[in-house]
Parts: sequence; C-alpha cells; structure tokens
Amino acid sequence: MSSNTGGHRHCYRRLCSYYFLIFQILILPTLHAPLALNSITPTHPLAVDQTLVSSNALFELGFFTPENSGRWYVGIWYKDIEEKTVVWVANRNSPLTNSTGRGVLRIGDDGNIYLVDGDGNSIWGSSSTTRPGTTVAELLDSGNFVLRRENDRTEENYLWQSFDYPTDTLLPGMKLGCDSKTGLNRYISSWKTATDPAEGDFSFKLDTHGLPEAFLRKKNDVIYGSGAWNGIRFSGVPEMNPTAVITFSFVTTKSENYYTFSLHNETIFSKLQVSHGGYLERYMWIPTNKIWNKFWYAPADQCDYYKECGPYGICDTSISPVCECLVGFGPRNRQAWDLRDGRDGCVRVHDLECESDGFLAMNYMKLPESSSAFVDAGMSFDECTAMCKRNCSCAAYANSNITGDGSGCVMWTTELLDMRQYTAAEGGQVLYVRVAASDVGTFVLRSHLAF
Ligand SMILES: *[C@@H]1O[C@H](CO)[C@@H](O)[C@H](O)[C@H]1NC(C)=O
Ligand SMILES: *[C@@H]1O[C@H](CO)[C@@H](O)[C@H](O)[C@H]1NC(C)=O
Ligand SMILES: *[C@@H]1O[C@H](CO)[C@@H](O)[C@H](O)[C@H]1NC(C)=O
Ligand SMILES: *[C@@H]1O[C@H](CO)[C@@H](O)[C@H](O)[C@H]1NC(C)=O
Repeated sequence: MSSNTGGHRHCYRRLCSYYFLIFQILILPTLHAPLALNSITPTHPLAVDQTLVSSNALFELGFFTPENSGRWYVGIWYKDIEEKTVVWVANRNSPLTNSTGRGVLRIGDDGNIYLVDGDGNSIWGSSSTTRPGTTVAELLDSGNFVLRRENDRTEENYLWQSFDYPTDTLLPGMKLGCDSKTGLNRYISSWKTATDPAEGDFSFKLDTHGLPEAFLRKKNDVIYGSGAWNGIRFSGVPEMNPTAVITFSFVTTKSENYYTFSLHNETIFSKLQVSHGGYLERYMWIPTNKIWNKFWYAPADQCDYYKECGPYGICDTSISPVCECLVGFGPRNRQAWDLRDGRDGCVRVHDLECESDGFLAMNYMKLPESSSAFVDAGMSFDECTAMCKRNCSCAAYANSNITGDGSGCVMWTTELLDMRQYTAAEGGQVLYVRVAASDVGTFVLRSHLAF
C-alpha cells in the first residue's frame, strides 16, 4: 500500500529544515514551503504545499494525491521512508478535487480541526464536542495526530485523536476495540483500491462477546477469525509469541477492551494492515534493505478460512483432505464431504448419556468461536470440569487464560465452530471435548488423550 504522490517532494531532512526555517524567517517571510513544524494553531493553518513533521521526525502529515488522480487527501506517512507509506487518511471518503481548489487544514472557530476547500466549504472535521478554548493540533512521534488545549499535553485530556479513527493500519500503541465511555469501536478497514483510500469491503474488528476475538470480514461475511484471546495470544495465531522485538497485549479496563501491540525499539517500524485484496498483514520495515517485509498474514492456508469444516469439524492442514469430525461425530453431508467440501460440518453419531460421558483432551487446538460461550475468569480448572460435566449440553470447555498453569473457564453449550488442529511445533492449546463413554479410549487423532 503505497502511493507515490505527485505534487511536491519533501527533500529536506530535519536539520536542513531548521536552517531553511531560519532562512525563511530572516529573509523570505512570505515564501510558502514545507515547514518542519509539528502543530497547527488557530493562527497557523496548513496549506497544500506544507507538512507537519513530528518532533523526532518519525512521521509527517500533509496533503497527497494518489497517482495524480486529482483527488486530494490529508494523510500521515513515515517521514524517512522514501516509498510513501500512508498510515492514516483524514478524509478518505470525501477527497478534495482539483475543481474544488486548493484546500487548507485549520483550526475552526469551535476549536476543531477542519479541512476546508477552495470555496471555504468544510469537507472534513475532527468531531470533538467539548467547548475547549484555544486548541492546537499536533503530530506526535507515535503517528498520532491529536487535538488538545494549548497548554495541556495530558493524554487523557486530548479532545480528539486520529488513533481513535483508524484507516487501514494499526500502528504500535493504537487500539483495536471499544471504549464504552466514548462509544467508539476502533477497527481497521481496507482502502478500496491501491490508489483509492475510500473505505473498501474488508474490515478487521474486535468482538468481545464470550472471549475476545477479532474477525476479518468482507462486508458482513466473516472470512477469518483470529481465535479467542487466551491471555497470551489469539488462539488461532500460535506464531504470535512475544519476541525480542514486539509485544502483543489485550487490555481490559472498566470502560475499555482492546488489542494493541508495542515495539521495544522505536527505530523499528511495524504495522498491521487490512489490504484492499482482503488480507490481514503485518509488515516490518527492514532499514538496511529499504523494504516492507511481510512478517505474517492471514488467511494463509485453507484452515484459516472461517468455518472451513463446519460445526463440530476440525481443520488440519497436515492431513488430506483437511477436514475431520470430532470423535463421536460423522459428516452431515457425506457427498459434499467426500468431494472435499467440509462446510456442512458434522453431526453426532454416538449418543451421549450425560452422567457417564467422558472428556477428550485435544492438544494444540484453535479454540472454537466463543461469542455465545460461557466465560468465568475466576473459576478454577476443577470447577470448570465439574460444571461442564454436570451440564449435559456442555460440549467442550477450556482454560480461558493459559498464562502459567492456566486459569479461568470457558464452556460451550452451543455448536463448536471454526476449530483447527495445529501441530506441536506450531502450538495451540488444550480443548476438552465431551464424548460418549464408549468413545473414551478410542484411538483418536495424534496427541489426544482421553480421560
Ligand atoms: C490535478 O492538478 C494537478 C496539479 O495541477 C495536475 O497535475 C493533475 O493532472 C490534475 N488532475 C486532474 C485529474 O485534473
Ligand atoms: C491471565 O493470567 C495472568 C496470570 O494470572 C494475569 O496476569 C493476566 O491478567 C490474565 N489475563 C487475562 C486476560 O485475564
Ligand atoms: C534500537 O535499534 C538501534 C538500531 O538497531 C540501535 O542502535 C539502538 O541501540 C536500539 N535501542 C535500544 C534501546 O535497544
Ligand atoms: C447449562 O449451561 C448453559 C449455559 O451456561 C445454561 O444456560 C443452562 O442453564 C445450563 N444447564 C444446566 C442444566 O445447568
């Protein structure tokens, strides 16, 4: 996702800009040119040929036009990456056009930021409703563009921030998830095409029903589910282990539930993005080679596709065909199944008896979709086992948090959907599945134990 914009080029490095600025102030006070300032104030708007640069020159904000399309946008990109990589767009659905004339980004009378076209019409604005007094809009080194009171840099007091309105990219420190206090549900959504930042068909959004899980959708249809957050990672992303470079976290406070990530060294760039082609992709910038390297992406294989093997089906890329049924189940639609379309899933063939049923511990699993599951983070494993055992409609249970020895309880009394079997090398976690007494001890999939 890069768009080399036509128009002017910003070739001044920061130091040069300072000299240039001094030069300007002393000698050419009326010349318009890129100014290395990091904020817009009521008396200093931003013109089409100017940019803001964050204080350590990591990010830049200004106007751009993808491939001389005649459509102009206000966006944020990395200052020092030559191949312009736009990470945020203010007016993605309402571009300025050549015919509406030169735009300007400024602070309006009500203290909000406005993008105003050549006729003076506002085509985009920040949406703070507080009456704030004198305000300043500043581009921070995190890539966050914030509106704040003139002398107040406290994060909690920001009146508006671009991090609350993501485009297609999640940067370190940005939140994917909701804030019940402000009613915001922050999610990322694709550009329409490589050169049109308008909101496209693909989105990646967090769902906090049951255990938190994020879904990649095409319009309203789920394409891929990350698997439930299990205290360490999303259970469908076993490779998502904390590394020396990056930390993933899920944060729950009184009013907020969100996923975020951070890098241990701010000179390393990483971004998570929904591409216009419909993939969720993480890129890392490799400074020595000057490329964005695709570090991870999804869906990456057949088993990443949502409900590939239907209810009670398990997807496993190490076998062929990839779908198999849970122990005690058989294909619902034998013909389609034999033709390798597993989406109708499986039905129970061995009746349960409730009290005499046993459980099968299935290792290295992606947990079933959990939006209608019962969750209690305070329950012990034994309590969870007992609760599932005495509730005949409980089909499976697991620890809701696998940190350390594991804790909490998640229990499914509805269909088990979107399960996946990983290998030991890939990882995954233990899921305990209810089976008829006669199936306890059946030879089952590798790495499974019955008890
Ligand atoms: C818009 O204006 C720019 C600069 O004047 C020009 O290069 C470009 O061709 C114009 N685009 C359209 C679609 O008119
Ligand atoms: C998971 O358990 C660990 C260790 O007890 C705890 O620090 C962490 O907050 C828990 N995470 C969640 C999401 O409950
Ligand atoms: C961050 O990375 C740079 C470049 O590799 C290195 O010079 C610097 O020491 C690192 N900083 C920290 C705090 O690790
Ligand atoms: C079984 O669990 C479900 C979900 O928590 C609950 O609605 C139902 O009442 C339980 N049934 C029994 C018999 O406990």
